[in-house]
Amino acid sequence: MKNFPLPRIDKDKRLKSYLEKFCRLKFGEIWEDPIGNHKIACCDSSDQNSILNLFNGEKAKLAVHDPPYNMIAFEKHRADKFVEWCKLWIETTDQILDKNSSLYIWLGADQKNHFEPFAEFILMMKETNFESKSFITMRNQRGYGTQKNWMAIRQELLYYVKGNPVFNTFAVYTDIPKAVKGYYKAINGNMTENLERSKSDKIRAGNVWIDIQQVFHLREENVNGCFVQKPIKALERIIEVSSNENDLVIDFFAHSGTTTLAAEKLKRRSISIDIEPIYCEIAIRRLERFRKTGKLGWQNSNPFEDEIIENKELTKYLKEKYKIEVK
Ligand SMILES: C[S@@+](CC[C@H](N)C(=O)[O-])C[C@H]1O[C@@H](n2cnc3c(N)ncnc32)[C@H](O)[C@@H]1O
Repeated sequence: MKNFPLPRIDKDKRLKSYLEKFCRLKFGEIWEDPIGNHKIACCDSSDQNSILNLFNGEKAKLAVHDPPYNMIAFEKHRADKFVEWCKLWIETTDQILDKNSSLYIWLGADQKNHFEPFAEFILMMKETNFESKSFITMRNQRGYGTQKNWMAIRQELLYYVKGNPVFNTFAVYTDIPKAVKGYYKAINGNMTENLERSKSDKIRAGNVWIDIQQVFHLREENVNGCFVQKPIKALERIIEVSSNENDLVIDFFAHSGTTTLAAEKLKRRSISIDIEPIYCEIAIRRLERFRKTGKLGWQNSNPFEDEIIENKELTKYLKEKYKIEVK
């Protein structure tokens, strides 16, 4: 078995500048899927004019955004600056979304800094046209900070709507069998137990998702070189519940391209954006690889394996710095 991972590309300038040579897109360019179902654009999501031009009046039914936080740009007055920036792409999202549509936002809450930017963000959202619907928590299996605090295992996901969007209840079930009995109710004079009355023998995901494994290096969907990658199962759940086949799904912070891939699997169209050519390229390669092999990621390799192997100086550097053996 190959074992050729990559370190975080964003943290290694040398590696990043070498790999950028292999990126199809430059800032301002758009990749169009030859089959016509997806687009990946390299631009700044907060640049309202460029984004509106990119969509050119086309309306989406669902937006799933996973903005970066803790960026250097937001270090001072972090939460306020961050939320001012968020307002820009939220306003654009509002213009692109259909009158009946859903918006999901993955948002962190920094427990060392008064849970920033959570409160600031939800207050900003109060001033928009979106209606709050749910605050979902996805439970990670692995966490941090166990010695003098509760282990941090939560990922926050906010769900907002406009109008009256689709909500496909058939897709809200987990794979976890219902186990707890004892909720009795008389139906037509007969006492029934809750399992007899249920539409499914599985529990619903509800707003606490405990059945989704986070992405880490042992997962098949792992994209080495990326970080903060969201699990494809989470994206599939959101897309299946909040859109129908052929609907347009949008993601302003593509990174490893999880939304594009989930949209492909579920026969939706998608437009994803990332400001970095390198992540646009990774998202495109991930989709292409899925179409060719059915694989979701590069668990034991990485998206630029061939190009890196060609470069002896870089393979030597990776070996010396990260002990990565390139075979
Ligand atoms: C938290 S990651 C998204 C992870 C993604 N959900 C996944 O599953 O891989 C955030 C991404 O936003 C991109 N980004 C940061 N600022 C941006 C901006 N102004 N416009 C578009 N993308 C941006 C970063 O390059 C990074 O790839």
